[in-house]
Amino acid sequence: MSPMRNIQLAPSLLAADFADLRGAVKLLDDAVDIFHIDIMDGDFVPNITMGPMIVAALRQHTDAVFDVHLMVRNPDVWIGPYRDAGADWISVHYETAPHLERTLSCIRESGARAGIALNPGTYPDGLEYVLNDTDFVLVMSVNPGFGGQNFLVSSLKKLSALRTRLDEKGLSLVQLEIDGGVDATNASDIVRAGADILVAGSSVYRSEDPLQAVEQLLANARAGL
Ligand code: DX5
Ligand code: ZN
Repeated sequence: MSPMRNIQLAPSLLAADFADLRGAVKLLDDAVDIFHIDIMDGDFVPNITMGPMIVAALRQHTDAVFDVHLMVRNPDVWIGPYRDAGADWISVHYETAPHLERTLSCIRESGARAGIALNPGTYPDGLEYVLNDTDFVLVMSVNPGFGGQNFLVSSLKKLSALRTRLDEKGLSLVQLEIDGGVDATNASDIVRAGADILVAGSSVYRSEDPLQAVEQLLANARAGL
């Protein structure tokens, strides 16, 4: 495992007060470099969140990286609108993208970093021929659609398998992101298994002190290096 790994925390705005998303961004803007933004379409996942207009509105209030996680069917048509709205990273679900190489190329051509998200039940082996075309892999550690669910420990095995495969292929620049049920108790195991970027919603925004929660999560995560 590369000693150069840089561990980052991406608070998920899904757990913030939707009536004060600007406040949620401002609160953590100095503490983190990335905000994770969940886009749900009510079809691929049984919930609806926000669209490009809200992302564009938030874009006015921070220079942080916007990590836009598309939980939508037919993601290709949404790459342009979310990029225009200010997305820096765009991930699409493997389960929604039959022409994955083309989708990833479209994301990269738009100027964003491209990611592939995997549902808990999806084998990582299907990524073998697109690992060169992706900038990061997002391993879902809950079934997508809702915040506040319990972390699925099977995702640690998946992270390890992906980290091993990336190392074997010499793809040290491809990052591994984990999303769902991440908190201070599992952060070090997650990093030990190979994750670089930890998404955390409830354990940050639903805590009494989100700033302190970020610091604790990062400290615990880095202990896993
Ligand atoms: C779930 C989303 C996650 C969610 C995680 O579908 O993709 O990003 O915000 O929330 P927590 O950290 O509460 O599990
Ligand atoms: Zn997410």
